[in-house]
Amino acid sequence: MKGRLAGRIILVTGAAGGIGRATAERLAAEGAVPVLADRDRAGLETVRAALGGDVVALDYDAADAAASASLVDRTLAVHGRLDAACNIAGIYARSHFAEMAIDDWNRVIAVNLTSVFAICRRAIEPLKESRGSIVNTSSIAALDGLPYAAAYAVAKAGVIALTQTIAAEFAAAGIRANAICPGGVRTPMGGAAPLPGADPELALRRSRLPGLDGFGDPADIAAAFAYLVSDDARYVSGSVLTVDGAQRLM
Ligand SMILES: NC(=O)c1ccc[n+]([C@@H]2O[C@H](COP(=O)([O-])OP(=O)(O)OC[C@H]3O[C@@H](n4cnc5c(N)ncnc54)[C@H](O)[C@@H]3O)[C@@H](O)[C@H]2O)c1
Repeated sequence: MKGRLAGRIILVTGAAGGIGRATAERLAAEGAVPVLADRDRAGLETVRAALGGDVVALDYDAADAAASASLVDRTLAVHGRLDAACNIAGIYARSHFAEMAIDDWNRVIAVNLTSVFAICRRAIEPLKESRGSIVNTSSIAALDGLPYAAAYAVAKAGVIALTQTIAAEFAAAGIRANAICPGGVRTPMGGAAPLPGADPELALRRSRLPGLDGFGDPADIAAAFAYLVSDDARYVSGSVLTVDGAQRLM
């Protein structure tokens, strides 16, 4: 097996979605053995079939912390090791701030933050053994806030703090942890229509990406995952990598 990631066992959550699928494909193309996880069984099966070989697909619900953590156990049961975890599954909930329901807040925090915590915590021991790494998906929303998406922005900010804490706490154990902050990416989530009454100026500002008609491609984010789990990033830990075509700065 050839490639920068030859033979590495890498858990990829959200693997049925835009960025997750692109990441699983990119990791496999570089020689890794991705373990696909998502709640979308049909989507998972499509990706698994496309990758072929003996790629394993695990369905779970990220709203359930125990089910999330069990992905690590299920991966170990199949492959006996874990070299990296790419936490990509996520949801986006929009509403005007004053109208956000507490149930929506709780669900976004559970899926986008608590699930990531549960997976990372369970992954620590196997990653100590492999001297492996974690790459978590945040968002540029975490860095500046995001109007009409308070729970999302807060969960993604939590992902950065979680990632950096793990990086610091387990550096001596040989575990690296990094966060990626995508800008607008052309996926079902990234293409969400604006809210009624939302600020059109803001939408316009967010969409001005030079040369990319406002959006990056899932493959642009997948390339960052592949780099961060590889030995090319062996001295990179605790970093927050924006992949947004400078969207945040405009
Ligand atoms: N698309 C963007 O513009 C953008 C920007 C910044 C960050 N992100 C982040 O990138 C990640 C991937 O987003 P995407 O654009 O590929 O979205 P997507 O909707 O295409 O994919 C998300 C995947 O997560 C899965 N998922 C959602 N809830 C789940 C649950 N409860 N249990 C298990 N799986 C669940 C979905 O089934 C889906 O396959 C997310 O964490 C998202 O917040 C996306």
